[in-house]
Parts: sequence; C-alpha cells; structure tokens
Amino acid sequence: MDGPPPLLAEAETVLGIACRDVRGLTEDLAAGGEVPTRIVRGVDPALEAAVTTDEERDAELEGALSDLRLVKDAWELGEMRKAVDSTVRGFTDCVAELSRAVASSERWIEGTFFRRARLEGNHVGYGSICAAGDHATIMHWTQNDGPVVPGELLLLDAGVETHSLYTADVTRTLPISGTFTPVQRQVYDAVYEAQEAGFAAVKPGAPYRDFHEASQRHLTARLVEWGFIEGPVDRAYELGLQRRFTMAGTGHMLGLDVHDCAQARTEEYVDGVLEPGMVLTVEPGLYFQPDDLTVPEEWRGIGVRIEDDLVVTEEGHENLSAGLPRSSDEVEAWMARFAG
Ligand code: GLY
Ligand code: MN
Ligand code: MN
Repeated sequence: MDGPPPLLAEAETVLGIACRDVRGLTEDLAAGGEVPTRIVRGVDPALEAAVTTDEERDAELEGALSDLRLVKDAWELGEMRKAVDSTVRGFTDCVAELSRAVASSERWIEGTFFRRARLEGNHVGYGSICAAGDHATIMHWTQNDGPVVPGELLLLDAGVETHSLYTADVTRTLPISGTFTPVQRQVYDAVYEAQEAGFAAVKPGAPYRDFHEASQRHLTARLVEWGFIEGPVDRAYELGLQRRFTMAGTGHMLGLDVHDCAQARTEEYVDGVLEPGMVLTVEPGLYFQPDDLTVPEEWRGIGVRIEDDLVVTEEGHENLSAGLPRSSDEVEAWMARFAG
C-alpha cells in the first residue's frame, strides 16, 4: 500500500465495528482451534495459508457475497448517484473540449474525462473507451490514440468512481461535427429505440433476461428490415443472427465493480428476477465492421452504443443517468449548446 497505514481507531470509525491489529490475526486464528472457516481466495495469500478451508465452500462464500451485492441499500444508491452525476459532468466536459480533441486525438477526451474523475471522485471506474470513427466497432477500444475527425462518430464509454469505490458506466455516441449523417442517425435511432424497449422491461418482478431480449429483438427486426440478415425476425432471433452486429449482451449489474456481482449464483442473477434496489446498465449497440463487405460502404465503420444506469424501483425504474441527452435530436441540441 502507499501512504501511512490507517490507525485502528480510524478503521473502527470507517467500518463501525471493533477492529484488532491484523498482524495478530494468524495467531488469533490458530488460538481459536479448528473452527469451520471460509475465506475469499486470491486476496491475502498469508491468511489463506494460515487457515484450513475447502475450495468448494470458499466458492460458495464468494457467490453469497456477490449475491448480497445484488440489491443496493439507500446509502449505496446515494453513492451511485454521486458517481453518475460526476460522470454526467465529465461527458459535458468532453463535449465542451471536442474541438481540442479534433486538433489532437482521442487522448484529449480520455484526459478530459479523467480530470473530472480525479477532481470529484477517486478515479475512473474502468479504462475509458474514447473510440472515434471505426474504433467504435472494436469491443472495447481503450488505446485511445486515434484521430477525432468531424463527420465521424465518437463513442465515449466512461464512468467516475467515487471515493467509496462505486462506479458509473455510461456511454454516449456523438456526431463529432455536431450533426448526424442520415445513415448515422438511422443506426443511432434504432439503438435508441432498442434501449427504450429494454427500459420498458426493467421493473420489479420482471425476469432479468427480459430487457436484453426486448432490446435484441428490436435490433433484429431492424437488421432484417435493412436486409442485413435474413428474416423472419423470430427465426433470425432464435438463430442469433443479429449477434454479428450487436456483438455483446445488453447490460449487467453495476456497483463496486463495473461488472458487479459477477460471481453471483445464476439463479439469483441472470436467471433471477429484478428487485427494487438493483442497479443495472442497459446498453444496446450496433457495430458495422470497417471491412464488412456485406453492408453498403457508408455503413462500414459505424459503431453506436447508448448506455444508461438504471435503478429498479417499487414502481418500475429510475434512469440515474437521465441528466445526459439520449435521443438523436437531444444529442444534437446538447452539442450545439456545449460543443467547444
Ligand atoms: N464499460 C464496459 C461495459 O459497458 O460493460
Ligand atoms: Mn456496461
Ligand atoms: Mn460501458
């Protein structure tokens, strides 16, 4: 660790529980004799060596801890609001500095967002994806060293992490010139509608998979309509033909980790139902590879993702990142107002 170690009294204040010096832990454990013990593996090798545990039961503990994180309490939701609010300000900073990015590179966007993250939070929650032009079709572009060219799109996927380590995870896809071309708008609007369809499925009692299915079905219908995959829509969806252009799932739980609760039990998470207090992303996208000769040339190299952070409420959901514009018209109006 860097910096001075926290005092025991400080640890007790922060954690609200009695604390003892960790240097005595192995002896304390030995003095306790053979008591049933489970440990989260991969965190502290010395501690792992000092206790006798069972791999399967340790995995159960990890799963149970992950399950516990599925529903956020009021304090956690407050932290997530802070993360999202700072992220909204970071996105506006990036729009305000777009002309400086055009004059330099994607790095300017990365640095601009990072400045907001460090000023208001602890750090970025994950490596910012500042993907201009056909970099937007790469899952996930974090090299961020390409040119930012008017007429192309900028896909910005970034999140501020709070001092308490909760992170936001938001994406906007922006026309660098301030205005979408007709094809860019067509793709953008399809993704927007798919996200709306996903939002409608985020409510308590709904199966977790529903929002993904609703978004993906919408995109499948558009891809069939445009002639890029063969219909009928139901058959195309069952075969997963849309995946060539949608590339990823439509969202995930969010919290202390960007992909939160990853160790949670399948029946509690992906096969479970949504409950008030769960926070998840809804992030449909369409990606047309620059070398895909099966689509018309003007579609190649277009990548669009729109990602918001939703909390499930008693009534349905609240979009925590609603402070950022989403529809193509709103995005253009926002850029006209703030773009520097
Ligand atoms: N930022 C990574 C993701 O959206 O999952
Ligand atoms: Mn995400
Ligand atoms: Mn993201």
